[in-house]
Amino acid sequence: MDGRTSSDTKPRCRTAAAAIREARPARSAPRGKDVMSDTSWTLHVPAAPHLSAGTTMNALAPLLHDWLPRQRWFAGKGHRITGFSLRSGTELLPVGGTGRTPGLLHLLVEVEQAAAAQHSGDRPPPRHSDCYQLLLGLTGVLAPHLAHARIGRPESGPLEGLTVYEAMHDPRLAGLLLERLRAPGSLGGLRFRRSAGSAVPAGLTPRFSTAEQSNTSIVYGDSCILKLFRRISPGRNPDLELTLALARQGCSRVPAPTAWFETVRPRGDRGEPTTLGVLQHYLPGALDGWDWGLAAVDTVLGDRRDRSGDEAFTAESFLLGRATAEVHSALARALPGAVLHRPQLEALAAGMAERLDAAAAAVPALVHHRAGLRTAFADLADLGRRGRAVTAQRIHGDLHLGQTLRTEDGWKLIDFEGEPARPLAERRMPQPAVRDVAAMLRSFDYAARWSEMTAERPPDPGACARAARWAEVNRAAFCAGYAEAGDHDPRDEHVLMRAFETDKAVYEVLYEARNRPSWLPIPLAACARLAAARR
Ligand SMILES: Nc1ncnc2c1ncn2[C@@H]1O[C@H](COP(=O)(O)OP(=O)(O)O)[C@@H](O)[C@H]1O
Ligand SMILES: [Mg+2]
Repeated sequence: MDGRTSSDTKPRCRTAAAAIREARPARSAPRGKDVMSDTSWTLHVPAAPHLSAGTTMNALAPLLHDWLPRQRWFAGKGHRITGFSLRSGTELLPVGGTGRTPGLLHLLVEVEQAAAAQHSGDRPPPRHSDCYQLLLGLTGVLAPHLAHARIGRPESGPLEGLTVYEAMHDPRLAGLLLERLRAPGSLGGLRFRRSAGSAVPAGLTPRFSTAEQSNTSIVYGDSCILKLFRRISPGRNPDLELTLALARQGCSRVPAPTAWFETVRPRGDRGEPTTLGVLQHYLPGALDGWDWGLAAVDTVLGDRRDRSGDEAFTAESFLLGRATAEVHSALARALPGAVLHRPQLEALAAGMAERLDAAAAAVPALVHHRAGLRTAFADLADLGRRGRAVTAQRIHGDLHLGQTLRTEDGWKLIDFEGEPARPLAERRMPQPAVRDVAAMLRSFDYAARWSEMTAERPPDPGACARAARWAEVNRAAFCAGYAEAGDHDPRDEHVLMRAFETDKAVYEVLYEARNRPSWLPIPLAACARLAAARR
């Protein structure tokens, strides 16, 4: 994770792409053999009864086995795929013959994987599974401009002779999905819905988004953007739940959803349909907060005089703090909150301490700071013991500079999905709002250190201090803006802030150690600072 992202862990700038290029996954599962472990699913193929679910899935399995692990959004990289089963299938456009007219299949596929990358011993490795949403185009002849979207050609079964490809790269099929969203109703297992009073324009030209992200987005004209959730958790996705609630509050800091689609197979724990995709207003020409932050640090680093203020961005950080507070206030009004007393605060602290222990066991460099970091969590538990109650509410849950867009109309916050790696039920629980603030403070730190570490300029002994100063000034500005627009100053919540920031930095240490060891110094430096920060 890079402080631009925690769930979406890839920076998008300069040398970063090369630094984090994902290794091609192992291909050790047997091809086409016994990949169907479950037939308790339904394939809705109203116009093509010849497509039986079992044979369709068997035909697709070898292709998906190779293709899935190469997708950025595939969460199980490095873990052997041991089976596929189809949760549901809907034919959005009839899968025809071998001509040039493509078919469009919507699938929810459960991918079973061995829990450990390597396993030895006599017992079979433990397994886990995740459900992914796939939109597959099927055509007899794949147009050359879609070659990059090719998934493969089934060698037998009902899809033999057809080329399967990632449908959303095909403007015809992406356009068809928009048409479905324009017309509320059901098709097979899918339900297409529109926000009250919203209109979705017709005939917009689709463009597959190339943004580094953990889901898949399609931009339609300059009007709408459709996010297709890839890893599907049963239930209502907070990215829809919270943005709808904010729209009802009249909160202009968040692009409003105009339409979405969902399925009742499966439903969530609360009996709600499962959200599959959300269409919202597109913000043309918006500047990404992470990219802009990096550019601001670059300016500071390029100037050997101490221009640590970099006033333009500091003013923006202040405004971003204001925007965040406004969103928090609207969320607090819109959705039920909770009050955390001693048991909840102790449980929160215990969870953080457990994560610290696990991270220290995996990353020896953290051991040195463990005792100091533990005090952050002990202080949090102590708050409860001293009778302090902490207000909790729905929050963003994965806030960082890369989830902010600067428009002519000020800062907007996007991507309210929370950390996708955490269970949906946990992501939907009320939490102290300062958790978002602490996460954003980590992002300022990441932007500063990342720029400094990757700067392509002659060695500069003052650069580290200037970058640190930039982070400090902008973190302070963000908090000041938040305090001005909100009902409290996060800097007064020292114990909570330090606990959440520490928890986040510990998570980052583990992430970087596993994925990008060259970045490890960034969260380790934060841990050193936080370990010493008790007062
Ligand atoms: N409403 C919007 N207007 C303009 N760009 C957007 C909008 N929503 C998302 N984006 C762009 O798409 C990227 C990914 O969106 P996001 O919701 O964060 O998806 P993910 O969950 O995959 O991270 C963002 O970083 C931003 O560049
Ligand atoms: Mg995102």
